[in-house]
Amino acid sequence: MIESKIKQTVRDIADFPKPGIVFKDITPILKDGVLCREITEALAAQLLDVKVDVVVGIESRGFLFGMLLAQTLQVPFVPIRKAGKLPFKTIKQPCNLEYGSAVLEVHEDALLPGQKVLIHDDLLATGGTVVAAAKLVKMLGAEVAGFSFIIGLDFLKGKERLAEGNAPIFTLASY
Ligand code: PRP
Ligand code: ADE
Repeated sequence: MIESKIKQTVRDIADFPKPGIVFKDITPILKDGVLCREITEALAAQLLDVKVDVVVGIESRGFLFGMLLAQTLQVPFVPIRKAGKLPFKTIKQPCNLEYGSAVLEVHEDALLPGQKVLIHDDLLATGGTVVAAAKLVKMLGAEVAGFSFIIGLDFLKGKERLAEGNAPIFTLASY
């Protein structure tokens, strides 16, 4: 089963990047090409009943499987990046996450009004990052069709925060 394979492979790193944080390190997954393919297919299989025009992935770990998922669904991929990285005109949104804060940006021409967007990230913790990403999507006139993660840290209540928006939330492995 994919959930147990993910849990067997992800590494817990204590006190990274700050004391008290147990960091879920997904880099061992990336060394296993078969598991990467299985994860991508499992992410796509969850979306059979969801119309997705575009996959948006969040820098940096959201790019890894976001792009693989977009290619599997045969839809475009759009990056949301940390401030100062995107070269064209952008719109911005601040966010707070489990262990810090950031400003997210997207190109102002990245999405078309009415497009149905699947927001993908590797991990849902407090939900601060994807809430900001959803705001950027809506500022461009597009719709959030769903949220997709490899890992959900359910004890941090990110799902409850996202549930206010009504878009479906998919995770492959929950803690
Ligand atoms: C991590 C992770 C998510 C976010 C989740 O990103 O990849 O984007 O934190 O936390 P939240 O649900 O509390 O917002 P990070 O900012 O560490 O960046 P990285 O992907 O570049 O490592
Ligand atoms: N992003 C936010 N919290 C995290 C955690 N505990 N492990 C890995 N990435 C994270």
